[in-house]
Amino acid sequence: MNRPPNFNRLGGLYRWLEMASFGPWLWWCRCAFLADLGACRRALILGDGDGRFTARLLRANPNVHIDAVDASLAMLQSLGRRAAPHAGRVRTHLADARYWQPDATPAAQPYDLVVTHFFLDCLTTPEVQALAARFHPALSPDALWLVSEFAVPPGWYGHLVARPVVCGLYLAFGWLTGLTVRALPDHSSALDASGLILRKSRTWLAGLLVSELWSATPSIRP
Ligand SMILES: C[S@@+](CC[C@H](N)C(=O)[O-])C[C@H]1O[C@@H](n2cnc3c(N)ncnc32)[C@H](O)[C@@H]1O
Repeated sequence: MNRPPNFNRLGGLYRWLEMASFGPWLWWCRCAFLADLGACRRALILGDGDGRFTARLLRANPNVHIDAVDASLAMLQSLGRRAAPHAGRVRTHLADARYWQPDATPAAQPYDLVVTHFFLDCLTTPEVQALAARFHPALSPDALWLVSEFAVPPGWYGHLVARPVVCGLYLAFGWLTGLTVRALPDHSSALDASGLILRKSRTWLAGLLVSELWSATPSIRP
């Protein structure tokens, strides 16, 4: 079992690094399908980070309760500050999401939303596959899975721009956090293999970023 990357020294800086490198695009990518999440009641946010999306979701949906899992204490502390006005609806879990087990008692409600914003890229394809297979039984039949990720589109732009950007990010995060993964996982085939169905997708920055909404069953909620 290898250790998860250590994002502790990026906790307070993460937002500013993001703004300096990608401006508002990562934020737009995370929020692309926010309007589709209005009916969600129980969300699981994996690799939650500094809680900006969690706080946004809590404001947008007054009925949602969130379990936020992250391996970084500093990130969860930032999350706690941002989500403080809605603290009663968030539980944080300092854990490696690859091994964290959701509450499996009979009284536990299934999740109707899983969120992985720029988290699956910290994992290998087999790890994403194992994660999706492990959490699938904890999902309600109408559950949604929201993904934001980097991507390398085909063609010259992918070859000359997107791939070097992604390689640079992996080198930087490897140096800053000890992340050992060096290539984007094939999260689509991993989610697909676990029975999830891609419902909506949108690209940003000519395909360098993707927002995706997957569902557990063929019928998707509005
Ligand atoms: C690139 S950041 C993305 C954070 C946030 N989701 C966002 O959209 O900005 C990756 C986050 O995943 C967390 N992380 C990475 N590997 C993890 C693991 N195996 N288990 C739990 N958290 C992990 C890191 O601590 C960090 O907060």
